[in-house]
Amino acid sequence: DRNDKPTTAESGYYFLQSPTVETARPHSNLQIPAKTQNDQPIDILKIRKDFPILSQKVNGKQLVYLDNGASSQKPQQVIDAIANYYKEINANVHRGVHTLSQLATDAFEAARAKIQQHINAKESYEVILTSGTTHSINIVANGFSNMLKVGDEILISALEHHSNIVPWQMLCERTGATLKVIPMNLDGELLMAEFDSLLNPNTKIVAVNHVSNALGTINPIRYIIAEAHKGGAAVLIDGAQSVAHIKPDMQELDCDFYTFSAHKICGPTGTGVLFGKEEWLNKLLPFQGGGEMIKEVTFEKTTYADLPYKFEAGTPNIAGVVGFGAAIDYLNEVGMDAIAQQEEEILKYATAELLKIPELKIWGTAQEKVSVISFNVGNLHPYDIGTILDNSGIAVRTGHHCAQPIMNFCKIPGTVRASFSFYNTIEEVDLLVKAILKAQKMLS
Ligand code: ALA
Repeated sequence: DRNDKPTTAESGYYFLQSPTVETARPHSNLQIPAKTQNDQPIDILKIRKDFPILSQKVNGKQLVYLDNGASSQKPQQVIDAIANYYKEINANVHRGVHTLSQLATDAFEAARAKIQQHINAKESYEVILTSGTTHSINIVANGFSNMLKVGDEILISALEHHSNIVPWQMLCERTGATLKVIPMNLDGELLMAEFDSLLNPNTKIVAVNHVSNALGTINPIRYIIAEAHKGGAAVLIDGAQSVAHIKPDMQELDCDFYTFSAHKICGPTGTGVLFGKEEWLNKLLPFQGGGEMIKEVTFEKTTYADLPYKFEAGTPNIAGVVGFGAAIDYLNEVGMDAIAQQEEEILKYATAELLKIPELKIWGTAQEKVSVISFNVGNLHPYDIGTILDNSGIAVRTGHHCAQPIMNFCKIPGTVRASFSFYNTIEEVDLLVKAILKAQKMLS
């Protein structure tokens, strides 16, 4: 996926036929999900001052950062938490009686508790600290290695990021299980009737994302979880793209696993979460062996540590986890409802303004979506548009977005993706539109 270079649409073995009769929903029908609005509206200028990078110039122009789906920017509060950790308490965790080691352990475990509270996990030991979503999904996929056999099925969806496809393919290769895919339509919505008929007693794992990174679709995960559970399948929800927009409640969702990364929610890179229900985490094989994941080691036999440490071999990203905790505090201070409200406004405005551009087509017109807009302009190459936008100081992602099967389904090599955060403004949308018009003129 390096550089996300677009490739020509080619069929993989999980390639799905594009529907021939079905057409995408007209944009005028786009409905934004209703969200509660308990928080005060965001004071956007005050918020923007928290993010030092947003006042930078890029290529001589004021930065307009619209690549939040790839990684969010970091507020000073998170940067300070990381710097202060290194300045004041840096030491290894869970390993020493000395004061700094205890302070570091307290800070690390305090962050775990904040995450537990944020996602309403029942127990703190159900929150495994990982290096990010990819690591989290791989822990689960590897953990099932001795639980599947030929004839068993793993059900994913056509909307998955490569990180929620490849680990399951690897698990199928190891166990002889079969990978099945819930198809999508051209609006970027999953075909739920197909989901119903794909579910069967052989389905052992269902793994879908909460929100599509490429198209912004919010998937009907409550239904998916409930139906999959009727047949006893374990359900993993990839929350990498949802947690920036939606506060997920583990006890209410009742999924078995939920994964996400800190860096998409104002935290640092290199740290993330695997939430797992205690009973499932206890069943999974450990992913990595090493220090701190053991109870007792002899050359004859090793016994494993209790949760969460069974899955936390080696020295963790302590400073990162402390920064993760600060990011959770920051989001809650701004308010997740206020964030959703601000992003909803931006999505509505940007959708309407972008559609005024001649020949611009938005991919992803699901009834329920977050503030992500994937588009193409006529036959212009996404890369060329992205490069011209960059010259104007505007950061977007171009290419297949680590979701090649979606691009294959749409029969396109890639898209330009503008992914908005709560710190983006209406003025920035206007700058994006202006720069696309300029690109269109230059490239036509
Ligand atoms: N998965 C991230 C994205 O969608 C990197 O850009």
